[in-house]
Amino acid sequence: MQVVRYKERIREIARRERGTGKTLALVPTMGALHDGHLGLVEAANRLADHVTVSIFVNPTQFVEGEDLDRYPRDLDADVARLKKHAVDAVFAPSVEEMYPKGDSTIVHVEGADQHLCGRFRPGHFQGVTTIVSRLFVITEPDLAFFGLKDAQQFLIIRKMVRDLGMGTEIVGVPTVREDDGLALSSRNVYLSPDERSQATVLSEAVFAARKLIESGEREVQKVKAAMRGRIESASLARLQYAEVVDTDTIAPVESIAPGQELLAATAVFFSETRLIDNQFVKAP
Ligand code: PAF
Repeated sequence: MQVVRYKERIREIARRERGTGKTLALVPTMGALHDGHLGLVEAANRLADHVTVSIFVNPTQFVEGEDLDRYPRDLDADVARLKKHAVDAVFAPSVEEMYPKGDSTIVHVEGADQHLCGRFRPGHFQGVTTIVSRLFVITEPDLAFFGLKDAQQFLIIRKMVRDLGMGTEIVGVPTVREDDGLALSSRNVYLSPDERSQATVLSEAVFAARKLIESGEREVQKVKAAMRGRIESASLARLQYAEVVDTDTIAPVESIAPGQELLAATAVFFSETRLIDNQFVKAP
């Protein structure tokens, strides 16, 4: 497994591998790898011949007041984990390599970031689409893997790829959970023991929403109230949003139509730690 720091080198490797007829996969990450990331790597290994994992804590997707400085970084530990998972290359560039001085190009999917997390993190998804499109241009992957836990990110990247006619297929990989339902996240390490035990309310809320919709509930207000009720039952939880959106428009729905593809999603603070969870659901 090679660890590559420079764009030109990783591009060279990608082109060489494609030249031998291989299918190329990219798994973009910000490091601090946990089992959720390894699930992405395993999916990539199943569907592609050559797997590159990028590790880059992308400054442009952190909004003011967020945890850029304290975001966990341990490249050696990440590389050691990836060595055990048949990864072919790790691309770990510096900030200067990805955002050279004088660089001013951004990629923005207009409208898709007005709701859910986008409403509270202005500029976040623009930072994500800017870095992901750069990674795609550099590594030219056939397939790219994203966790469905970051559902809005997944939907926005899928839209970007469709809108721009990029040749990369976006694969969404189901959320990996702890035994009690908590979705794996690099931020879970910040939770105190009490917060950790209460954090299961996120998954309970989105599972309850899915169950209600699947059982034919058409009133969004009732679904949202059920989610809110679960979250508010945890004394340490501070609800940011509990919402139901259409997966095409990524906008909240007023009422639920038969066959509609929906996303029930929530974001909750425990002290300064912000957690998210969601469920995709098709209305019967
Ligand atoms: O999901 C993440 O870890 C990041 O948002 C991503 C896709 C690697 C872009 O920096």
